[in-house]
Amino acid sequence: MKEKEWWQDYFEDSYLPFHRDRPYRDTQEEMELVQNVLGAPKGRSLLDACCGHGRHAFPLSDMGWRVTGVDQSQLMIQMARTEGLKKEEGPPSPQWVRADLRDPVARNCFDAAICLFTSFGYCLNDSDNQRILDSIHLALKPGGQFILDVANRDFLIQHPFAIRNWWQRDDEYILEETKLSPVTSIATTRNVLVSKEEVRESEYQIRLYSLHEIVRMMVEVGFEITGAYGNFPDQPISITSPRLIMVGIKGS
Ligand SMILES: C[S@@+](CC[C@H](N)C(=O)[O-])C[C@H]1O[C@@H](n2cnc3c(N)ncnc32)[C@H](O)[C@@H]1O
Repeated sequence: MKEKEWWQDYFEDSYLPFHRDRPYRDTQEEMELVQNVLGAPKGRSLLDACCGHGRHAFPLSDMGWRVTGVDQSQLMIQMARTEGLKKEEGPPSPQWVRADLRDPVARNCFDAAICLFTSFGYCLNDSDNQRILDSIHLALKPGGQFILDVANRDFLIQHPFAIRNWWQRDDEYILEETKLSPVTSIATTRNVLVSKEEVRESEYQIRLYSLHEIVRMMVEVGFEITGAYGNFPDQPISITSPRLIMVGIKGS
């Protein structure tokens, strides 16, 4: 059995209190890019890799995709299942699978796959992250499309004294500070939630990649790169754009 990683507890305890309803994450804009890149669903199958509680999986299944959401977090999968049970009409809810994507989850099954909102990089060693790409590649049918969305390491490196941000949610305030180590390319983010009842803190780390690194990793597992964007919904990519949104295709 694999040793438990720090981020496995993080997604059970600390992620949602800070990131639930995060205002600048515009799911609409993310969906716009996904739709433009993948085209009409026509009953095709889609893997939402690291699906969380189904932020993208639900709207995609409403559009007509046959969606399978995979996530390692018991809490996230449980929330998604509970939400799915509330649905009384319309297209079927996504299927939910609790699994660690470092291991293969399917072979030649899906017409498309997405992995959005920097869900890739929590493993702080490159070989584990590469295994996630490998299992997504394996799960796709030949010709299957893949969209990977991560924060751009070379955007953060321009802010050596940390990026600070804050937002308000009802009567709570959430503060965020992210610092990138230029030596390890690991970004450490500290969140502080201030409410009338409490001040709560949490910290997480992500291995961020530069454009050339992410291209190499995707190509190494067998993707052909067919497009790239620098932000949602359709910003062109540049070396310093905030995100790396990579589009790949599994060769036949
Ligand atoms: C930042 S959240 C994003 C969730 C969702 N994609 C969204 O945009 O709302 C990252 C998710 O990736 C999942 N995750 C991270 N590493 C994983 C792995 N190795 N296998 C499966 N899920 C993983 C976490 O459990 C968490 O739910």
